[in-house]
Amino acid sequence: MSISNNKPKSKQDLKTTTSSATDNAESADHLSAVDSAAAKLGESDIQPAQEPVTDKSTSDELSFVHDAVLLQETVAAVLGVRSLPKQTDDTGQNSLQMSGIYVDATFGRGGHSRLLLSQLADDATLIVFDKDPTAISVAHELASTDSRVKVVHDSFATLTDSLAAMGITKVDGLMADLGISSPQIDDGSRGFSFMRDGAVDMRMDTSRGQSVAEWLEKVDDETLANVLYEFGEERHSRRIARAIKQMDSYESTLELAEVIKVAHPNWQRGKHPATQSFQAMRIFINNELGDVDSFLEQSIPILKSGGQLAVISFHSLEDRRIKQFLQRHSKGQYLEDENLPMPPKRPRYFSKPKRVGPSKDEVSQNPRSRSAWLRLATRSDIEYVTDDKQ
Ligand SMILES: C[S@@+](CC[C@H](N)C(=O)[O-])C[C@H]1O[C@@H](n2cnc3c(N)ncnc32)[C@H](O)[C@@H]1O
Repeated sequence: MSISNNKPKSKQDLKTTTSSATDNAESADHLSAVDSAAAKLGESDIQPAQEPVTDKSTSDELSFVHDAVLLQETVAAVLGVRSLPKQTDDTGQNSLQMSGIYVDATFGRGGHSRLLLSQLADDATLIVFDKDPTAISVAHELASTDSRVKVVHDSFATLTDSLAAMGITKVDGLMADLGISSPQIDDGSRGFSFMRDGAVDMRMDTSRGQSVAEWLEKVDDETLANVLYEFGEERHSRRIARAIKQMDSYESTLELAEVIKVAHPNWQRGKHPATQSFQAMRIFINNELGDVDSFLEQSIPILKSGGQLAVISFHSLEDRRIKQFLQRHSKGQYLEDENLPMPPKRPRYFSKPKRVGPSKDEVSQNPRSRSAWLRLATRSDIEYVTDDKQ
């Protein structure tokens, strides 16, 4: 395959599209409500999902174009370079032509994947993951025109096993752009929206697992309240849980949102009272935090020495986990619970952990980028040792 066939033709090709709904408080709050700092911002200040314009099957859901958040920074980080060449043209001029094996753990509509591909050589491989069947159909479309792309319809928590099934045990770079996409929010039938009616589903992967409605039928008040508190930081979780459990059925997101709204004693200006509860149920039903933890742990044995990890998050529950993971594996801290007089230190599996936010320019051009953080680090040459205490 000729690499020039796959290169973006212009900067415009690397732009992403999101529906106008992502400008509203709902999309923003879905993605960042638990970040109290972000929650204080105006609705257009908060980061929504970013989705590129490439998917014809969903193009009617998409109505305006914008730059993907931290796109250049993330792709440069995963390639281990300071910055990307200014522009790659049709002939491949200015492409870094990097060889190696890379993973985009959250394909979405492929914004990050496409820019990365523009910098890869013909012999490179890009494995893309997504839970979402529509995202996966877009990924298959891309793979059908670019033999460097391999597609996995599964959680990135299956990283090691999915790569092993392809005969891959080490990779040069891993990137993930966490959360949900604009098309997922904008399609009311997916159940993520409290402003568009639909089934109370909220699964990213609609081909498996239980929907939120199925879970709500079975869950007891206390467990529900704990989920609302833990994953939505909803201070009125008990009262809201009781009201939800008094509902006759869970068939409509708008009905569910209304019940939460009525039960919520403390409305905040510019923020729907169901924001945090919807976010909590979404995070819970998709096991979002568990998947992130698992992905991060697997990055240690999977990354080659010198390999790069780049993860974008949009709220503090995720960012905190990524930060703590990188601290744990880069600081050489003493292991806890050791009775030895000289307890051993944790191996420094990563070096140069760094946090990158959007530039002023990016924020002014795209206010949604404000709450995004990219954390990156380089895998050291210390060999991975399986040890529960690590
Ligand atoms: C913010 S979007 C990514 C957008 C993408 N970077 C782009 O440029 O189009 C997040 C995507 O990750 C997917 N996703 C979230 N958690 C996942 C997981 N644990 N495993 C696989 N995919 C996941 C969602 O289905 C969604 O399509």
